[in-house]
Amino acid sequence: MSDTTALISRRQFCAGACQAASCATLVTLVSACAGDGSPTSPSGGSASDLSVLQGRFANARVQVTTAGTPLANVGGSARVESEAGLFLITRISDTAFTVVEGSCAHEGCPITGATATQYVCNCHGSRYSLNGQVQQGPARSNLRQYANTFADGVITITV
Ligand code: FES
Repeated sequence: MSDTTALISRRQFCAGACQAASCATLVTLVSACAGDGSPTSPSGGSASDLSVLQGRFANARVQVTTAGTPLANVGGSARVESEAGLFLITRISDTAFTVVEGSCAHEGCPITGATATQYVCNCHGSRYSLNGQVQQGPARSNLRQYANTFADGVITITV
C-alpha cells in the first residue's frame, strides 16, 4: 500500500468514526430528552407554562389583581413577579388562594410550569403540590407557603 493510499484510508477512517460518534451522541440526547424524569413525562401529567403577573410590593405585602388573569377563575394559577420575589398562586375557591414561593428548592430555578394539581420546575423536573409539598425530586425541601387575604379582587400576600 502506498503512502497516498494509506493517507486516504486514514481520512476515510476518521470521517467514518466522526459520523458514528455524532450518531451515538444524537441517540443519547434523544433518549435523555424522552426520559421519565422530564417535566412532560406521563408520570405526573404534562405541564403547561404558567402565566406571569406583576405584583405590587409595599409595606411587607405584595398585592396582585385577579381581574382579567387566570386567577379570576377557580383552578387558575399564575406566577407572580415582584420586588419581594417570585410567588406561585392558585385559586382554590371563590375566596381562597394558595401562595408558595416561586423559586425551586433544588437549585433555585424559577418554577414556570404547572398541571391542574402540581407546580413543575422545568430545570430538572421537580414537582410540588399546590401547597408546595415536594412530590417528585430532585428537590428535597418544600416550598415556603405564604399567608394571604382576598378582598375586592386583590390578593394580598404577607411576606
Ligand atoms: S432547580 Fe428545580 S428541579 Fe433543579
